[in-house]
Amino acid sequence: MTDDLSWLATAARGTEPVLARELEGLGATDVRPGAGGVTFRGSAALARRANLWLRSANHVLLRLAGFPVGCADELYAAAYDVRWEDLLTLRTTFAVTAGGRAPGLHHSGFAALRVKDAVADRMRDRCGARPDVDPRDPDVRIVLQLGAGRGTLFLDSSGRSLHLRGWRRRATEAPLRETLAAAIVLWSGWDRRRPLCDPLCGSGTLAVEAALWAADRAPGRRRPFGFERWPSFGEAEARSWRALLEEADARAAEAAARRERPSIRASDRDPEAATAAELHAAAAGVGGLVRVETADARRFAPPEPSGMVLCNPPYGERLAPGRATLDALYHALAHALRPAGWVAIVLSGNPGLARAFPTRPAARLALRNGALRCELLRWDARHG
Ligand SMILES: C[S@@+](CC[C@H](N)C(=O)[O-])C[C@H]1O[C@@H](n2cnc3c(N)ncnc32)[C@H](O)[C@@H]1O
Repeated sequence: MTDDLSWLATAARGTEPVLARELEGLGATDVRPGAGGVTFRGSAALARRANLWLRSANHVLLRLAGFPVGCADELYAAAYDVRWEDLLTLRTTFAVTAGGRAPGLHHSGFAALRVKDAVADRMRDRCGARPDVDPRDPDVRIVLQLGAGRGTLFLDSSGRSLHLRGWRRRATEAPLRETLAAAIVLWSGWDRRRPLCDPLCGSGTLAVEAALWAADRAPGRRRPFGFERWPSFGEAEARSWRALLEEADARAAEAAARRERPSIRASDRDPEAATAAELHAAAAGVGGLVRVETADARRFAPPEPSGMVLCNPPYGERLAPGRATLDALYHALAHALRPAGWVAIVLSGNPGLARAFPTRPAARLALRNGALRCELLRWDARHG
């Protein structure tokens, strides 16, 4: 592979600028935020580093080809033109996923099937046989994106989504995706030193992601990646990958040896959520950094004279018992979460929450939490 490859890192809509900053920090070039992702250029080694260190990305995709698509046959022909024999072997299992639409291709499953046929046919024509398809756990994941009459084919270097860090143990109600939580922490302006509290912590995602960042832990250190199973991942690549992992361990050890540690607190009124948050912090290796309690956010008592509240209150769709109760909760939170000297960063899926605050937020960012349109709101610290 050359050193100047074209990549797309995907992320929750609205968080692309955060991801773009992360990529620039890793040395990616030609970084361009788009809708739901950021394109960039760089080597396969950079993409391995990106998979290990990016906090806000869901997938890092290697761009193979882009082409106009007017019908299913055009898609088949364009997919057949890709040199799959350079990317797969006959022993490599593969799977194709597709998203979006194009003329004559209204079902993503059908579009994926046409690409699968093109890959298999080309391999049969060039190598004498077809590799096996394994939709559940393939060696190579091929991704097709359709939109605006065009198709783009990618290889997924991440494999399973990067939000699967490997620390989540318990199912709780409405947890944030780890990658979205990390994007919120990065957007917040937190300096990794000030006290940070999530008084409606649920499963603890915001606190755990903040702690991983503060501890300079590579978010992907405990999980496998798609590129490790690519035929192009040979001995030299494995050596440079091991060096990256060692570097990540050294950075974590260096951060742990430093004295100053931020105070990160997470609490929830539901004891089961608090237990899950505690379990998750421990599983992520940041149990010593996150202090978890069962407490009511309406009586939030700031542990220090200044700091940051970072939280994601119930939206009302699944969690709230009733509208009147939710409004009352929002008014109580608007009062409790802004003690003097504290910045408040609130992810809201309900406009009633912002309205409950007596002042307008100093900054807002529209984003998507899954399919839900949300706003990330920031109120700066009040004095006195
Ligand atoms: C949307 S969930 C938070 C999800 C969390 N960010 C995560 O990633 O798992 C909202 C949480 O607020 C909690 N909650 C609701 N009212 C509360 C209150 N008055 N005090 C503390 N926690 C409360 C719920 O128990 C729930 O866990």
